[in-house]
Amino acid sequence: MPYNFDEIIDRRHTGSLKWHYTDDTIALWVADMDFRAAQPIFNTIERVLHHGVLGYTKPTEALYEAVINWHGSRYNLWLDQHNILFSPGVVPSLALMMRVWTEVGDAILVNDPIYTPFMSKVRDNGRRLILSPLKEFEGKYHLDLADIEAKIIEHDVKIFLFCNPHNPGGRVWAADELKALLEVCKKHDVAIVSDEIHQDLTLSGHTFTPFLTLADGYEHKMVSITAMTKTFNVAGLKCSMIFAKDKALIKKISQQQHLNDEHDLNLFAYEVIRSAYENGGEWLAQALAYIEANIDLTLRFLEEHLPEIKVMRPEASYLIWLDCSAYGQDDQMLYDALRDAKVELSAGVQYGNEGHLKMRLNVACPQALLIEGLKRMHLALSNIKS
Ligand SMILES: Cc1ncc(COP(=O)(O)O)c(C=O)c1O
Repeated sequence: MPYNFDEIIDRRHTGSLKWHYTDDTIALWVADMDFRAAQPIFNTIERVLHHGVLGYTKPTEALYEAVINWHGSRYNLWLDQHNILFSPGVVPSLALMMRVWTEVGDAILVNDPIYTPFMSKVRDNGRRLILSPLKEFEGKYHLDLADIEAKIIEHDVKIFLFCNPHNPGGRVWAADELKALLEVCKKHDVAIVSDEIHQDLTLSGHTFTPFLTLADGYEHKMVSITAMTKTFNVAGLKCSMIFAKDKALIKKISQQQHLNDEHDLNLFAYEVIRSAYENGGEWLAQALAYIEANIDLTLRFLEEHLPEIKVMRPEASYLIWLDCSAYGQDDQMLYDALRDAKVELSAGVQYGNEGHLKMRLNVACPQALLIEGLKRMHLALSNIKS
């Protein structure tokens, strides 16, 4: 069925994190989409609701099968039921894996820039945060393997928290890049936590490689943490998965989860994961086509009206990383100028030192909203310039 991604659904006054305004500000920041979810998901929620009894629930065979088929058929990541653990969120799993593999005071490496909780959760959990800046050339980010290795040695790093595809830069790391990174981690016995939550939003012309498919004997030191919540725009359901292929490691993770009883999902989440993986492919294909058109539209608009913004075209997801340094020299001033013009983007500085004078723009919204948001950006930034 054709979905209508042009539909504008007013999310204000619903408790939405993204649309927290009392005025007509346009929200182009936090990573959720403003699209109605796929019909099979609603059918499933209705079915569960109308059953009438909302009791304790556990994962079914059919759920495992749906997870296995999705990852196997799309990405050649073949799992069995015992490789899959459920978790209330990818961010909680980041913290969980720190507890599995490190002690307070241990060093954990992350790239800069990076999705904010990679940094804040390391600090919150009393671990030492070590940053390895990504190198930018040819319009995209690259790993600096020499820097990564030097930092691993200098700080005795225990875990590399990795983001594939990368938020905020939108890189889908190529298999060769992953292999090279794996070699460095293997050499120094560094565990890898690969956050792959944006995997299914890989855009045309790019190929997502799950890190676990390359593990090759290093399974005891690798996990993938992922979810279908970004894929299908159901982040409010709070659910995710941890994939691990080593028996002893799975046992350790599971024990750690049981300490706080955080291994269970709610019954809607279990059933929605299954139905989305079984029947949501058509919605996803249409959503991705709409997102690609929005990315093209945004790039054309910026080239014409704000040509001094340096744009990083995403290889996955709907977040566009913008270098706005030509339009202002103060991060707060840039952010405030946009807010004053009633459009909100994510300030780049929250993603690390490399985010200085950058902005992250979320284009997963109806085109009419996006165009109005871009016009407000144009007004705000050209006012600063003049
Ligand atoms: C890279 C990345 N990881 C994790 C999350 C959030 O995951 P969860 O809601 O499952 O904690 C996000 C949300 O934007 C993200 O971009």
